[in-house]
Amino acid sequence: MTTTPRATTTQPPPGRGNGQPPRRSKPKCGQVSTATENIIVDDEFEALIPPLSEEEFAGLEKSLLNDGCRDRLVVWRGHNLLLDGHHRKKICGKHGIPFGVVEVNLPDRDAAHVWIIRNQFSRRNLSTFQRCELALKLEPLIAKQAKRNQVEAGKRYGKGLQNSAKAFEPVDTRKEVARAANVSGDTIAKVKVIDAKADETAKAKLRTGETTIHREFKRITDAERKAEQIEAVQSAALPAGKFHVIVADPPWSYNNRPDDVTHRGRCPYPPMTVDAITALPVGTLAHDDCILWLWVTNAHIAEGHAVAEAWGFTVKTILTWGKSTMGLGDWLRGQTEHCLMCVKGRPVVNLTNQTTLLHGAVREHSRKPVEFYRLVEALCPGTKVELFARQEREGWKSHGTERGLFSTEGPGA
Ligand SMILES: C[S@@+](CC[C@H](N)C(=O)[O-])C[C@H]1O[C@@H](n2cnc3c(N)ncnc32)[C@H](O)[C@@H]1O
Repeated sequence: MTTTPRATTTQPPPGRGNGQPPRRSKPKCGQVSTATENIIVDDEFEALIPPLSEEEFAGLEKSLLNDGCRDRLVVWRGHNLLLDGHHRKKICGKHGIPFGVVEVNLPDRDAAHVWIIRNQFSRRNLSTFQRCELALKLEPLIAKQAKRNQVEAGKRYGKGLQNSAKAFEPVDTRKEVARAANVSGDTIAKVKVIDAKADETAKAKLRTGETTIHREFKRITDAERKAEQIEAVQSAALPAGKFHVIVADPPWSYNNRPDDVTHRGRCPYPPMTVDAITALPVGTLAHDDCILWLWVTNAHIAEGHAVAEAWGFTVKTILTWGKSTMGLGDWLRGQTEHCLMCVKGRPVVNLTNQTTLLHGAVREHSRKPVEFYRLVEALCPGTKVELFARQEREGWKSHGTERGLFSTEGPGA
């Protein structure tokens, strides 16, 4: 990219716009112009210029009125598009202050963008946030250039990947942007988050240095974390009402069996301690006559009984799911899972010839078979709730942090 500054028109030296000569009678620029109407202000180019605060604008206005326009405006030769001096042009136009113009050669609009951005770094006393904002405007241009380099290398070396890799110096866009702003890559990453999520008031404070990037980033991430926590608590809140049937499949923790390496790190959701499960006020959901189906892992059969009792139920029998395929396990490979059938009061059960064995195909991790839900619906009339559900069911209330995970549509739902 070539930039060849060259002064253009010659006009009388700048005055103060009020008929009086400038205080400094010899402006820096020798060749000046008052032909503001010939210079084109391009919206896209102007948007690249960080705005001046009211105070900065007033200071510049005062200086131009007192001293005239000492620095020449810069335009793109052959296009007459303004590259530098947007604020000065505005003020000079308003007060009739003459100014000089210098032209630069640039190959295309991308080069003009880069020129404007880099020029701002050298001209202005920018805050760190403003520098990052500006540098981020370089990002698409750097990425474009990187792509061009790649295509160029490809053309030159064809499919000789080894040679092209040697010739082609890959551009790390993030690093380049950070370098332009003179900050770390981490700071640029934070500014990207701020750019997307902060409101204009916060951004204004960052631009003036009233707050810092780190502080604003922390404010945003803290607020997001809090919102997520609230959402999790709300979505995990037990539903209101009294139910005739409760199905519960708690996220039992595997940590109470440290010797079992087969399950470690395999659980796709956070577990709950036995104490936390016991403390859930499930009893308040139970109708006076209620049936509870409580799933337990092999390692939690004893705890399952204690939990059922703490919730106000008596364990009556155990339904065993005989799985279609075997899984992992210690000592023996697991091909069964158990569900405690528990009662409170005298719940109605449609007596059938259902045995304690339920056959059903294995699906996703810890997902219970569709046959189980059919069994519950066939056996147990009345209102139903599923705790720790991962799928909503028609006619049921659902609870659980992942209750919408599986679709209600499709085979085996
Ligand atoms: C064993 S899985 C339930 C599997 C489900 N029965 C099925 O067939 O897909 C336990 C579920 O409880 C959820 N969970 C974990 N902690 C929870 C909490 N504190 N409150 C509500 N749900 C929670 C887990 O994300 C997980 O979806």
